[in-house]
Amino acid sequence: MAQDGKIMAAALRRFQLDKDRRRAELERRTGEVYRRLPRLESIDRELRGTAAKLVIAAFQEDGDAAIKELERSNLALQRERELLLAGAGYASDYLDETPACRLCQDSGYLRDGTPCRCLMAYYTREQNRRLSKLLDLGNQSFDTFSFDWYSDEVWPEFGRSPLENMEMIRELCGNYAHKFGRRSGNLLFTGAPGLGKTFLSACIAREVSDLGFSVVYDTAGHIMQQFESGKFGRENPYEEDPDREIDRYLNCDLLIVDDLGTEMLTSFVQSVVYRLINDRLLNRKKTILSTNLSVDRLGERYGEAVRSRLLGEYQILRFFGEDIRILKQEQ
Ligand SMILES: Nc1ncnc2c1ncn2[C@@H]1O[C@H](COP(=O)(O)OP(=O)(O)OP(=O)(O)O)[C@@H](O)[C@H]1O
Ligand SMILES: [Mg+2]
Ligand SMILES: [Zn+2]
Repeated sequence: MAQDGKIMAAALRRFQLDKDRRRAELERRTGEVYRRLPRLESIDRELRGTAAKLVIAAFQEDGDAAIKELERSNLALQRERELLLAGAGYASDYLDETPACRLCQDSGYLRDGTPCRCLMAYYTREQNRRLSKLLDLGNQSFDTFSFDWYSDEVWPEFGRSPLENMEMIRELCGNYAHKFGRRSGNLLFTGAPGLGKTFLSACIAREVSDLGFSVVYDTAGHIMQQFESGKFGRENPYEEDPDREIDRYLNCDLLIVDDLGTEMLTSFVQSVVYRLINDRLLNRKKTILSTNLSVDRLGERYGEAVRSRLLGEYQILRFFGEDIRILKQEQ
């Protein structure tokens, strides 16, 4: 699993903010209780004092008696503290600092250096926030995917009905998302407008993101723009670093390129499409392409080397049926 540095940095910021907030809340509570029970504050001070004295006594040769005495007074103080808290109606751990995550003690990382699942939850939320800027993750999920828009009449050129076809595609995409990992393949969604290609991309993006993988969704047009600005340098040094965007396209676990074929064709674009497809294959990173063009048309557009990789390395899913945008309008 490769995390995206920029997203992880944002996730860590929110993680730390929440930690600071919990700490501030504990301080507020402590202040509140100390005002009501001033004796408690001096007990806590004494307890901290005995803790230090215990350490010192442990290093003294004849410290045993002192240690016993300290432990006794410690216990008495703790008992008094509990009684005070209970008497005022507080739970005995009301002022204890308990970590929100026991696995990592709120450090965010496990001993082997991998991010803890509590931090990964922040990462996923951050990534989904970004994906939501371009995709309708709220409404487009496998649960809301409807078969109502696909007819059950057989289309002779495809040998089956749009409904049968979509049942197969929906099943395949569901499995792809649930089982996403190193052994997953690549997908090519091809078909006319308004058939659910972007919708299914959103469903997959969400599930794979929730599994903790880095997922980037973008349109081919925007991706090419980023490569263009990387090529010609930046006019404004304060804007987002386009090179970093390019890194995300090349290195994320799952890249979804939407509307491939709608961008203006130049030889630069041709070389970027080849590089994206080829580099990601070499690095075993997974890609989903979505297009209105057939594989043959894509081959004419981007060259034989691209066509060959699509045919050899991508599972091709052909979408057909009636344009759902128009069907919805007619309702
Ligand atoms: N299975 C579905 N259930 C409900 N609504 C759907 C379904 N598939 C698509 N839609 C809706 O139909 C519209 C078009 O779908 P979508 O954007 O996925 O089409 P597309 O295949 O990506 O088209 P294009 O090739 O033009 O990009 C969207 O409003 C989408 O929410
Ligand atoms: Mg689309
Ligand atoms: Zn944790």
